[in-house]
Amino acid sequence: MFRIAHISDLHIPPLPLTPWRQFAGKRLVGLFSWYHKWKSEHKQIVLDALLKHLQEINPDHICVTGDITFTTLPAEVDQATEWFSRLGDARKISLVPGNHDAYIPGALDYVMEKWARWMQDDLGQVGFPYLHRRGPVNVVGLSSAVATPPAISFGRIGQEQLEKTEALLSSIHDDPSPSLLMVHHPPQDGAATSRRALEDRKELQEILARWPVDLVLHGHLHYPTRAKLDGPPGGIPVLGAASASAIGRRKSAAHYHLIEIETETGQPQISVQHYLYSTKFGNFSLSGTQSL
Ligand SMILES: [Fe+2]
Ligand SMILES: [Fe+2]
Repeated sequence: MFRIAHISDLHIPPLPLTPWRQFAGKRLVGLFSWYHKWKSEHKQIVLDALLKHLQEINPDHICVTGDITFTTLPAEVDQATEWFSRLGDARKISLVPGNHDAYIPGALDYVMEKWARWMQDDLGQVGFPYLHRRGPVNVVGLSSAVATPPAISFGRIGQEQLEKTEALLSSIHDDPSPSLLMVHHPPQDGAATSRRALEDRKELQEILARWPVDLVLHGHLHYPTRAKLDGPPGGIPVLGAASASAIGRRKSAAHYHLIEIETETGQPQISVQHYLYSTKFGNFSLSGTQSL
């Protein structure tokens, strides 16, 4: 049994004290949004509970589907680096960025530098897509993080990354190991308005129909979702995690997936446990189980 925790949209609080001059343009809009809307939602106490919980259940691997920061300030990136370092061995974490980690043009560069240890492939190359072979599982990480105008949060994979993804997925197609693909924005239709959606999801859907994976993980929506993409009979299951730091005033309370993969019986069996944060008890507890 191989167990993977899937967490997303940490938007790690607090927003670090930063000189005013760093808040200009879209970041100024973000600062306003944080203090008026999201500061009361994303709480350090929830992330402390998550860290303690993950240390106790000790999953074999952790998949993180982006939006780790809020405005990609260098101090936020440093704060996140410190938080993930406390989770344990870098090889136990696969991370892809979200739109909040590429908040303004150029901001993703510092993210790629500081979080390289969780985004480089097994040969040490940093970039997307990457392949992490971990235990019996192949984890493929894609980036949909692009800088967007204020109040817009669409994602884009881009032609070059799509071509590399097709080549990567075709190269592991005959590998009997179950494969799992991570991307921040939901890849299914109808999950978000065009201002928030993955622009080139059709192209990704077509690639996945040709070279299916066993499971797709995403974030971005801040509530748990389940969908299917065309591919093999029964489709490709798609799971979206809620924010891992939310107190639940605006959307879902913090939630994450614990994915159990059993490969001993030949055909991989995948089941998912949903863990939800309780504001009453200040901890994460099992709220449901499903098999895929
Ligand atoms: Fe988010
Ligand atoms: Fe997002």
